[in-house]
Order: sequence, then C-alpha cells, then structure tokens
Amino acid sequence: MGGDYLGVDLNSPRQFLKKYGIPGKLIVVEGIDGSGKSTQLRLLEKWLRYNNLEVFRTEWNSSDLVKSITSKGKKKANLTPTTFSLLHATDFADRFERNILPLLRAGYFVLADRYIYTAYARDVTRGCNPSWVRKVYDFALKPDLAFYFRVPIDISMDRILSGRPKLKYYEAGLDLNLSKDVYESYRIFQSRIIEQYESMSKRENFTVIDATLGIKEQQRIMRDKVKALLPPKMTGSVLEAP
Ligand SMILES: Nc1ncnc2c1ncn2[C@@H]1O[C@H](COP(=O)(O)OP(=O)(O)OP(=O)(O)O)[C@@H](O)[C@H]1O
Ligand SMILES: [Mg+2]
Repeated sequence: MGGDYLGVDLNSPRQFLKKYGIPGKLIVVEGIDGSGKSTQLRLLEKWLRYNNLEVFRTEWNSSDLVKSITSKGKKKANLTPTTFSLLHATDFADRFERNILPLLRAGYFVLADRYIYTAYARDVTRGCNPSWVRKVYDFALKPDLAFYFRVPIDISMDRILSGRPKLKYYEAGLDLNLSKDVYESYRIFQSRIIEQYESMSKRENFTVIDATLGIKEQQRIMRDKVKALLPPKMTGSVLEAP
C-alpha cells in the first residue's frame, strides 16, 4: 500500500477502514475474573465455526512477545501500575496489529477474550489516569459487540476457587495494599473494577449479560445478539447446534 486513493492516505489503514468499512466483525467479552467469559466465548466460537464462518479467538495477555516479561514481573511482584499497564498494552498492540486487524480486514469473526475495557477498568482501579489509559489504546478499533458479564463477587470467587485453590497476587490486587487478607483484598479490588465497568457500560454500548444465569441460557442470549452480525443471506438458515 502507499500513496493516495480517493483522498485517503493508504499508509493509514485505520483511516481507510473508517471510510470504507471493514468486512469482519469484532466481538469481545468483558467482566471480572470468573464471570464466565471464556466459557461463553468458546461456545460462541463453536457455533460460528459450525455455521462455516471463519473465526479467530484471541486472549488478553497471550502474545509471545511480552508474555515472558509480564510473567517474570508478576512472579517477582515488582510491577508498578504504569509498567503493569504498558506491558499489557504492548501485548494488546502486538495481537491487534498482527492478528486482529488483518483478520478483520480478511472478513473473519474475531472473538476477543477481554479487550481494551479490561485495561480501562483495571488500570484505572490501579491508579492510572483514565484519559492516559484511553490514549494508550487509541489505535484500537471499537468492537461490533461488547458483552459485559455482570456477576456478584461471591459467585465469581466461588467459581474461581472451585477450579484452583488460591487467588493470584495481581488478580487479588495485593499490590495495592488494600488489605492483608487476600480474600478481603480481592473483594475490594474486584468491586472497584465492577464500578469501573458499570460506569462505562452505557458510553461503550455494552450488551449486559446476567452472568448468574445458566451456561446454556446465556449462550442463547449471546447467539441471538450475534445473529444481527451474520451475513444477510444466512439469517433464517442459521444452524443452532452444537
Ligand atoms: N453460568 C455458569 N454457571 C456456573 N458455573 C459457570 C458458569 N459459567 C462458567 N462457569 C464456571 O466458572 C468457572 C470460571 O469460568 P470462566 O473460566 O469461563 O470465567 P472467566 O470469566 O473466563 O474467568 P477469567 O477472567 O479468570 O479468565 C469455570 O469453572 C466455569 O466452568
Ligand atoms: Mg477466561
């Protein structure tokens, strides 16, 4: 690419896409730990694939580029709110430029397990300036659908602890000295994250899912919403299984 086409700078794909649209669809899930995001997104992926659509699922904090540094920093518990934020932003930028954007341009359904709203909620809770965090992620496209899984802390905590015995240092917000008790710290930290999610819910056009419902029922609600994004010739002939 290069030069100018119909007044669009072709070196700036974002500007081009804004003007001419993008064939793929971006669907993201958000919510506190243990709210059921990954469970639902995997089921959605299965359903889209079953309907012969091209799908790519990507997870927060999963890029090979920064994974080892992030886990090193987390293990030693020596990340500051700013370095914590910037490492996750680097991870996101790597996945965005390498996978998310090219695949959206190629017409894929891109499913993101956590997206920029995770940073908005967590980093601000950690004390980063809200407008600074939003500026850092300014390059990201807004999703076509953002599901927010609303769940009380006790339920999410029970779900996490039934899968593994301990809460992790950063997920419990222990770096913030909220309480010496790890469970109490988790409760305070996660409730502040919920406040952040709730306060951006309207502005960011979240589709709120009652995450206390059963797995099947939540999935039915999600699929109903996603149907609106399917190619027009497909609606009416969508396969419901599996
Ligand atoms: N609707 C539900 N009812 C009961 N249990 C559920 C429900 N949804 C998910 N679970 C269970 O809760 C646990 C956490 O679910 P899941 O991993 O999907 O959450 P998550 O939001 O992706 O968490 P994290 O942010 O930590 O990745 C899993 O063991 C899962 O089987
Ligand atoms: Mg998950």
